[in-house]
Amino acid sequence: MSDDLENLRQEIFAKVTEYYEKAHADQPFVPGETRVQYAGRVYDEREMVHMVDAVLEFWLTAGRHAEEFERRLGKFIGAREVIPVNSGSSANLVAMTTLCSPQLKQRLLPGDEVITPAVTFPTTLAPIVQNRLIPVLVDAEMGTYNIDLEQLEAAMSPRTRALFITHTLGNPIAMDRVVEFARARNLFIIEDTCDALGSKYNGQSVGTFGHVATLSFYPAHHITMGEGGAVYTHSRRLAKIARTVRDWGRDCFCGYDNPVNGKCGIRFEREIPGIEGYYDHRYYFTEIGYNLKLTDVQAAMGVAQMDKLPGFVAARKRNFARLYAGLKKFEEFLILPTWLPNADPSWFALPLTVRDTAPFDRTALTRYLENHKVETRMIFAGNILKQPGYKNIERRVVGSLPVADQVMRSSFFIGVYPGLTDAKIDYMLEMFAQFMAEHGGQ
Ligand SMILES: Cc1ncc(COP(=O)(O)O)c(C=O)c1O
Repeated sequence: MSDDLENLRQEIFAKVTEYYEKAHADQPFVPGETRVQYAGRVYDEREMVHMVDAVLEFWLTAGRHAEEFERRLGKFIGAREVIPVNSGSSANLVAMTTLCSPQLKQRLLPGDEVITPAVTFPTTLAPIVQNRLIPVLVDAEMGTYNIDLEQLEAAMSPRTRALFITHTLGNPIAMDRVVEFARARNLFIIEDTCDALGSKYNGQSVGTFGHVATLSFYPAHHITMGEGGAVYTHSRRLAKIARTVRDWGRDCFCGYDNPVNGKCGIRFEREIPGIEGYYDHRYYFTEIGYNLKLTDVQAAMGVAQMDKLPGFVAARKRNFARLYAGLKKFEEFLILPTWLPNADPSWFALPLTVRDTAPFDRTALTRYLENHKVETRMIFAGNILKQPGYKNIERRVVGSLPVADQVMRSSFFIGVYPGLTDAKIDYMLEMFAQFMAEHGGQ
């Protein structure tokens, strides 16, 4: 790049920084007036400069920023292969579809069963159905909101081939138990870690225990690209298939550098059985795929967020601890979250359940908080089988899912994201105290 162009580039970056400082700098918090979000983008001028850099380069599709993001995220998690996609939902779809690949000797076949929690995010369950597999729904455990491992044995049948489990709101599942269970029965493990970036179990990142795992970079999550996600795995073979599924189903793995003869070096010497001569590897399709790729502008934002990730994780833990300590005195009426001794959660949020014995219900409490500008959210779909879009799916169910029903009736969560200042957290706790005082709760 010429000096002139480089100077112009730096001038643009300086202007973007100035714009950020004038237009996006923190607004003062006014208790009772400013909305206390449960989550949101946390960024500064560096995200904007990175994105503008990618725009000026105008590569557009996944390029050098995507490559850097893959490398840095893989290092952070301790995963050999990272496959960025355009959302966490896409990551779940790619992960599940990968395990159905005809290229795998022991692939999942239509009608095979996948054990999964009943308290779930819809697009964790959806790819099971979309791949013509049968979900086997298992109840949640109150307090952790994770799948109840005690019920796994009862969920098994001769057709059971995989577990698709979620570390709910960042709270790690006892993965030693899951791995032992799955190994003994030759089951695949898919870990949905969309809400759990930075969470560890026995000192190891969640998502690295199973065969394949997923992340979301929607703004509510630990890092964001606006929209985005990733599949990750230790297995080079699964990663290769996942990239193929993501990229229209094509076998070519050239990526950004794209040499004329392909990374494989035999781009023009590929044979398709039954076809005379050779066929260009760029148009050689080995899977029924999608196009779920992300853009380099998104990846550029992701790279800037990676610098902040350790600080984000620490802030989430700190905010959780402050809120937990402040809510402890309401335990008579609220079930506080629990986690395992070997778990080190990088919390997505702080879940609460209004006890059946409380003199108020969840709606009264969440309405009060929302009316006082404190955001709340449901624990995703609650009992997903009660949701109109899912109530008629083909499935097996273990028991009557009483905890999932309780979660749907009485649980919710509040935020712990790094954008919460001490003043906002004090205000949140004050609103809980005010509600309890007004509703006979203390
Ligand atoms: C556990 C879980 N899985 C999957 C998703 C889907 O991610 P995305 O919104 O990026 O599609 C979410 C979204 O919040 C989630 O919480």
